[in-house]
Amino acid sequence: MVTEEQVSAIGRTLLDAAQPLPARFRALFTLRNLGGPAAVACIGRAFGDGSALLKHELAYCLGQMRDEAAIPVLLSVLRDTRQEPMVRHEAGEALGAIGNPEVLDVLKQYSEDPVVEVAETCQLAVKRLEWLREHGEEPGASPYQSVDPAPPAEETDVAKLREALLDEGRPLFDRYRAMFALRNLGGQDAVLALADGLQAGSALFRHEIGYVLGQMQDEACVPQLTAALRSRAESPMVRHECAEALGAIARPSCLETLRAFAQDEERVVRESCEVALDMEWHCSEGLRGEAEPAWTSPVFKQSRRAAAAACCQHPAPKSPGCARGWEEIKHRPWAPA
Ligand SMILES: [Fe+2]
Ligand SMILES: [Fe+2]
Repeated sequence: MVTEEQVSAIGRTLLDAAQPLPARFRALFTLRNLGGPAAVACIGRAFGDGSALLKHELAYCLGQMRDEAAIPVLLSVLRDTRQEPMVRHEAGEALGAIGNPEVLDVLKQYSEDPVVEVAETCQLAVKRLEWLREHGEEPGASPYQSVDPAPPAEETDVAKLREALLDEGRPLFDRYRAMFALRNLGGQDAVLALADGLQAGSALFRHEIGYVLGQMQDEACVPQLTAALRSRAESPMVRHECAEALGAIARPSCLETLRAFAQDEERVVRESCEVALDMEWHCSEGLRGEAEPAWTSPVFKQSRRAAAAACCQHPAPKSPGCARGWEEIKHRPWAPA
């Protein structure tokens, strides 16, 4: 059993802006997996941070934890126009994930937000809550253990799902339903259909495509993810999600790309590459006790092992070099030793 004192020690790492970002991410994932009121409170206290990447992940984790104690802080983040669109988006999505219909009115109100990512997120969250009310239960569990913004479509034909996914005349909720059905079906045709979505509208939609491709970890979409990350015309929120997906796929060419963009001028892209490289290292070489990679900055070198020992107690990956460890940290609940 983890004591409250240990939870607050992990919380201190999360809140300490002097810590390297990857160490703070590990602290966050550990709190998320521990759950409980102390963990929710620690995560809620970190929204004053300067990193949009970290804050959006706080909201994501609170949504995935589905703890109603997080509703007040998520509402205040959604309402706070000083927070970055990507952070407010994730707060709206988290409120949909928790599934309490009491937030419906607020979500309806923010469905008209002038920030399009926020408005679209809240429209989706409203639809999800209405779907839950209509069906009286959560959709079947995701094979990736994630709570998704829309239930998967019932259709199982990849070509039909692809058509629905890419049809910009359809409601976004239906296109999301096609997206999650394709993800759950898996296989290369589904992966390539999803990757075509990286060319479709809107930015919110494309960022979610990046997210599901990261969950699937299929290398067939590496060229499309790389192209989106490289495109300076693309929204930073989309480029960020593509960087994380490349980190999850973790082929040598993906890691090469992440190293190249770890100095990107967009902070959220830079930080995503940094965190993705750390996670990949931790999930493969790190757990096998191998030497630090040459690109590691001195500050990481000092903190990495300590952070790994203190914060990250997830089970070892199933096979050496297998990037599943990332998914396990990020999405799978685990019982602390
Ligand atoms: Fe998101
Ligand atoms: Fe994200």
